[in-house]
Amino acid sequence: MDLDVLRNAPLFTHLDDEVFSALTAELTEVELSRGASVFHEGDDGDQLYVILTGKIKLGRTAPDGRENLLAILGPGEVFGEMALFNPAPRSASATAVSATSLAGLRHENLRKVIYSSPEVSMQLLGALARRLSRTNESLADLVFSDVPGRVAKALLDLADRFGRPTADGLLVAHDLTQEELAQLVGASRETVNKALAEFVQRDWLRLENRAVIILDLQRLRQRAR
Ligand code: CMP
Repeated sequence: MDLDVLRNAPLFTHLDDEVFSALTAELTEVELSRGASVFHEGDDGDQLYVILTGKIKLGRTAPDGRENLLAILGPGEVFGEMALFNPAPRSASATAVSATSLAGLRHENLRKVIYSSPEVSMQLLGALARRLSRTNESLADLVFSDVPGRVAKALLDLADRFGRPTADGLLVAHDLTQEELAQLVGASRETVNKALAEFVQRDWLRLENRAVIILDLQRLRQRAR
């Protein structure tokens, strides 16, 4: 298990060495390939997960089968913690979008750490608060922004977390299909394709397989406003 990622994960970075090593003894490692499920919406669950490598999508399915993605999370980020504070079935499904490894921790083990380390509680509250403000923003975007604006915003958010500068531009290897990108912005695949084609035609970005290269960050930012 890559303990460096875990040590630097915001949740654990403030723990002293003794508490951290006691905690790592309780962890289980989970290896997933693209498309493999961690859990499904509605399942019972008593574990949370820290992403060590790869990416996880969190999504919900409507009664008619359509999917909506709540978030794409990457290394150092945590999911599956909600039932720790609000005992309820899993509020979303978690699926790997690339080869992914996770460290799983039982809620009861984290609960013990929370009682002894207030920093861990602060980290979890911070993560929940950030998630709430992102969700509020997505809700406002669904009401007030058009699809190209939402696509631009989603790409910039992915670029912030997964972007890597290259000689050609900012490479964002998001690992998502266009269908998944559409589920993330709450629009049809056709409308999202059209928005992407328009950005390509304007030379703002280039499309690669499950990745984009952003060529004009400033214009994309303006479009996202
Ligand atoms: P849990 O309900 O145990 O299982 C699904 C997980 O998805 C949940 O915990 C959170 O970790 C995560 N999750 C739920 N809603 C959101 C959201 N809006 N943004 C990011 N992550 C979420």
